Amino acid sequence: MRIIEDPADLALPAFRDCGFVPTMGALHRGHGSLVERANQDGRPVIVSIFVNPTQFGPKEDYARYPRTLDSDCALLEPLGVAGVFVPSVEAIYPRGLDAARVEAAALTLPDVATKPGLEDACRPTHFGGVALVVGRLFDLVRPSAAYFGEKDYQQLRLIEDMVAADRARYGGLRIVPCATIRERDGLAMSSRNRYLAADERDAALALSRAMQVAHSAQRVETAERLMRDTLDSFGLATEYAVVRDAETLMPVRGFERPTRALIAAKLGATRLIDNTAMTVWR
Ligand code: PAF
Repeated sequence: MRIIEDPADLALPAFRDCGFVPTMGALHRGHGSLVERANQDGRPVIVSIFVNPTQFGPKEDYARYPRTLDSDCALLEPLGVAGVFVPSVEAIYPRGLDAARVEAAALTLPDVATKPGLEDACRPTHFGGVALVVGRLFDLVRPSAAYFGEKDYQQLRLIEDMVAADRARYGGLRIVPCATIRERDGLAMSSRNRYLAADERDAALALSRAMQVAHSAQRVETAERLMRDTLDSFGLATEYAVVRDAETLMPVRGFERPTRALIAAKLGATRLIDNTAMTVWR
């Protein structure tokens, strides 16, 4: 497994037509499952580790975001990864961070990243930074396929639409959605779970419980009320708990088309998100 610091090394024949797993490090089994999915496609796999400053808001956790390169490499090595790309901030943003922030803010994002009023409303500068860095990483790595977890469902939909809208730039790049990996008790794996204090760990189950309860509902309003009530009962502060069209993420009246339940809630200082596909009732 080669550690790649210089983007020029990405042009080596060993990395051509690769499968690509972009990450911010602090890797866990969820990331491991993205690599395993990429391996199934039979291409060399490149994982990037870059804590991207432009996708964090001014009051968010950029400075304290866990940086755990040694244990990240220990997780990746046995999975047969060809290269781990660990670019510097300068390599990704050669014109400086201020210029990058301006560029991120000026991007035209697909509707799914600006209209639904979910992460786009709660973290107004987030998706500009995500689109900017993912576009840069795709330009440097030139993968044939890239693998994203459904855990960040609105991010996944943004990347799918961004790539579909600019085939001149991204060519035949395929975006492959990968199922969320959960702890045995249902908690979705996340690098931010390590922020949870021991006594918060149980309360964090509120999100998966809320979605389980919502599955029993036959009306959208009922599902949303049940989710909010469950989050309340575990003492979480709900940011949103909604059922949306699985493609556009806009509000729906019923479950006729594929829908998705999506939750964001705060537990103390930690912000947790989760989502699940809802049943299609016919
Ligand atoms: O999902 C993440 O870890 C990040 O948002 C990504 C896609 C690596 C961009 O920094």
